[in-house]
Amino acid sequence: MADNPLALVVGANRGIGLGVVRELVGRGCDVIATARAPEAATALRDLAAAHPGRVEVRALDMADAAGVDAFAASLAGRTLDSVLINAGVAGPAHRSANAATMEETGALMFVNAIAPIRLGRALLGSMRKDTGVLGFTSSVMGSVALNAGGHELYRASKAALNSLSRGLFAEMRSRNLTLLTLHPGWVRTDMGGSGAPVSVDESAAGMVTVLLGAAGSRRHAFLDYQGKEIAW
Ligand SMILES: NC(=O)c1ccc[n+]([C@@H]2O[C@H](COP(=O)([O-])OP(=O)(O)OC[C@H]3O[C@@H](n4cnc5c(N)ncnc54)[C@H](OP(=O)(O)O)[C@@H]3O)[C@@H](O)[C@H]2O)c1
Repeated sequence: MADNPLALVVGANRGIGLGVVRELVGRGCDVIATARAPEAATALRDLAAAHPGRVEVRALDMADAAGVDAFAASLAGRTLDSVLINAGVAGPAHRSANAATMEETGALMFVNAIAPIRLGRALLGSMRKDTGVLGFTSSVMGSVALNAGGHELYRASKAALNSLSRGLFAEMRSRNLTLLTLHPGWVRTDMGGSGAPVSVDESAAGMVTVLLGAAGSRRHAFLDYQGKEIAW
């Protein structure tokens, strides 16, 4: 990889994550991009092939705690300018807390909230001093203030991510880094569905503008893909 700014995108083989990788490359960043199954990540591998030396495709399953730790350790010695921990699942989105099992809620919470924080915390030492930006793809559905009901388990998983990200920021203050908890919009992906109003390209362009533009701000904010503040 050349001397370009270096970004990491986790959950980059489809949807918003893939769009963010494409956008970052277009803006001159080199990208480490993860997929659970890199051999099946055709669109991501095609993107990497179209930009030789600019996109490094790595395997990472956020449901594998030891794998998350090992992945973070494997980046020791690299300096990350921007990180977007984007992988997420809807889980038993249409079921209420009264109908969900312990196994499925455990998996939802681990992938959407615990593993992102575990990885983010483990990467702090690899972030560029003073200007590094660590981002989590959350959702407006994680806002407690704006919770109007529905999808309560998915909402709870993103609210947990928001709360954990606030705690992580308190811990990392002395490092002078920036932490963003981001809402990508309601986006036309496998998760968002075909009726969503925002395209992947539009969301990704906004997410990357917000991520890169926050460098050096050293704050923690809950922002949407257009840079608007969201109530916690
Ligand atoms: N779409 C929306 O309207 C919307 C709105 C608000 C927030 N979000 C959030 O935005 C993020 C991306 O969503 P999307 O719409 O792009 O969803 P998507 O199209 O369903 O893609 C989800 C991505 O997460 C990855 N992923 C899921 N479980 C994983 C695991 N255990 N380990 C590693 N990667 C895993 C998927 O990889 P595989 O291909 O291997 O499954 C895929 O790359 C999510 O965090 C989601 O909650 C989306």
